[in-house]
Amino acid sequence: MCGIVGYVGHRDAADVLVNALTRLAYRGYDSAGIAAFGNGKISVAKSKGKLKDLIDKMANEGKPLGKAGIGHTRWATHGEPSDVNSHPHSGAKVTLVHNGIIENYKELKNFLIQDGRTFLSDTDTEVVAQLLDHYYTYISDPVKAIIRTTQDLRGSFALGIVFQDYPDNVFAVRRESPLVIGVGEGESFIASDVPAIIEYTKDYYLLEHDEIAVLSPDGIKVYDSHYRPVIKTLKTADWDVDAVGKGGYPHYMIKEINEQPTAIKNTVVPRIKDGMPNLEECSIDPEALRKIRNIFIVACGTAMHSGMVGKYVMEELARTHVTVDIASEFRYRNPIIGEGDLIIIVSQSGETADSLAAMRLAKQKGAKTLAIVNAMGSTIAREADMLIYTHAGPEISVASTKAYMVQLSVMYLFAFELAFAKGTIDEEQYKYYTSKLLETPDMVQKVIESTTETAQKISTQLITADSLLYIGRGLDYALSMEGSLKLKEISYIHSESYAAGELKHGTISLITKDMPVIAVATQSALYEKTVSNIKEVKARGAKVVMICKEGDDVPSDVADFVLKVPDFEECLLPMLVCVPLQLIAYYTAVQRGNDVDQPRNLAKSVTVE
Ligand code: G6P
Repeated sequence: MCGIVGYVGHRDAADVLVNALTRLAYRGYDSAGIAAFGNGKISVAKSKGKLKDLIDKMANEGKPLGKAGIGHTRWATHGEPSDVNSHPHSGAKVTLVHNGIIENYKELKNFLIQDGRTFLSDTDTEVVAQLLDHYYTYISDPVKAIIRTTQDLRGSFALGIVFQDYPDNVFAVRRESPLVIGVGEGESFIASDVPAIIEYTKDYYLLEHDEIAVLSPDGIKVYDSHYRPVIKTLKTADWDVDAVGKGGYPHYMIKEINEQPTAIKNTVVPRIKDGMPNLEECSIDPEALRKIRNIFIVACGTAMHSGMVGKYVMEELARTHVTVDIASEFRYRNPIIGEGDLIIIVSQSGETADSLAAMRLAKQKGAKTLAIVNAMGSTIAREADMLIYTHAGPEISVASTKAYMVQLSVMYLFAFELAFAKGTIDEEQYKYYTSKLLETPDMVQKVIESTTETAQKISTQLITADSLLYIGRGLDYALSMEGSLKLKEISYIHSESYAAGELKHGTISLITKDMPVIAVATQSALYEKTVSNIKEVKARGAKVVMICKEGDDVPSDVADFVLKVPDFEECLLPMLVCVPLQLIAYYTAVQRGNDVDQPRNLAKSVTVE
């Protein structure tokens, strides 16, 4: 989704802005632009396409000069990707960039047109620029004008603003959409996300809803919506610029797949005391866990898929009813929840609009909320009753891998804790499962090493397919959902996952020799059942890739390719098997020549519904 940056200081603003925008590119975008303050005026450069197109344009036509400015990567919502719809947008004395959606932009636009203003673009953002300009004409104080403008806005926004009359300042305000304020020496920054500015500073403030920041080379002032000064707490990122580079890998995705063992260690090890999980620092109290009636895991995309695995494990071990819901469905279907229910919101970014709305709805209805979030200080993390941070570090590739892996690891930690609190496992089992979870970083490392070559070979067979099916039962089905999503989002090959036992009720009619099937069969109790389903698709000509455990007896006529993972504690196998599924998706996309890290039409952080 859109990314915004801003800079005031001693460096060339355009260079800093373009550099920072490059680090936000992972969020997904289709045009880019900057504005800088120099020679007494604000100049703007913007272009449809990638940052390279903007850089080429500035090389030909000149770049905005100055030591203060704002920048933007746009993921189109209102109006097609075009030069004119790209940000920044301007009024007579105001230029701004925006991340979010203004829901009442039409009525505001009508008012401004009646007031004699004209518009160049189709965007909701230009309406904000003109509205702010309108109020600034009457209220010559920029902070007061911003406060007045935000009173009229409905929806979500993070804004970076420059005023013609304030050449040494950048202004910022946010509601719902994320924004951080970077604190440097003799320089200040704004950004949608810390990775954008980590090269310049690790210190930052989080801006709360409707707070306004005024940046100057000498420092930062923050005001609330009543224009009262606010004292902010300085935060420091605990990772550095290397964490946001490719580290010698050709793509972020493969780098992040390789970072998974470390990410699990960072997430799990600090939560283990005396051989058992301890989630007290997350405000999780065993007594409260005992009283939980129903659990709802609510999330979007890959995060939702981690919940599918969580459901199987929690129901099996803790004998507690778990429903997994897509956040955009949950929030509009008047869900039956209330006191005694726990809603687990899973989110890498902690800013996904639908997940956030689902969490707020659950709170309103009296349920307790637990957030499993990767991004420190994000909105979901701040608003949840209980919080377990995953420690994957920054995930740059749009296709999520290491964030999914650590979400799984937290699902297990929580399931073990819940089961022990409810008395459905005893201390010996509790310690056994925990010790196995502690072994997963090494096991995942082994699986990366042992399956890469086979995954590469398998992907060579898939690159010409038009459509693919992933099948499995139980935990293998839950995992197949993520395998299938991973493949389709980056390879652009249609794929779906199906419960193997359900195939014959319709979907098997799709099977031909041209539809490869990836069958996951790692759960002993279901193995023979799944093998029968594999035989059914094989008999109809499908090319089958089978994923099972070492030691499994695979009948010779069942699969064209067999990929084996180590024989390990079965409930934890999704953490191992997701690796070859990620690798198959990755190598298929690479061989098809796709932009692996920034797949078409997708965004990393979906801050609009
Ligand atoms: C987007 C991303 C997915 C992610 C989903 C949920 O669609 O491309 O990778 O799984 O949003 O994001 P969240 O930040 O809430 O985990």
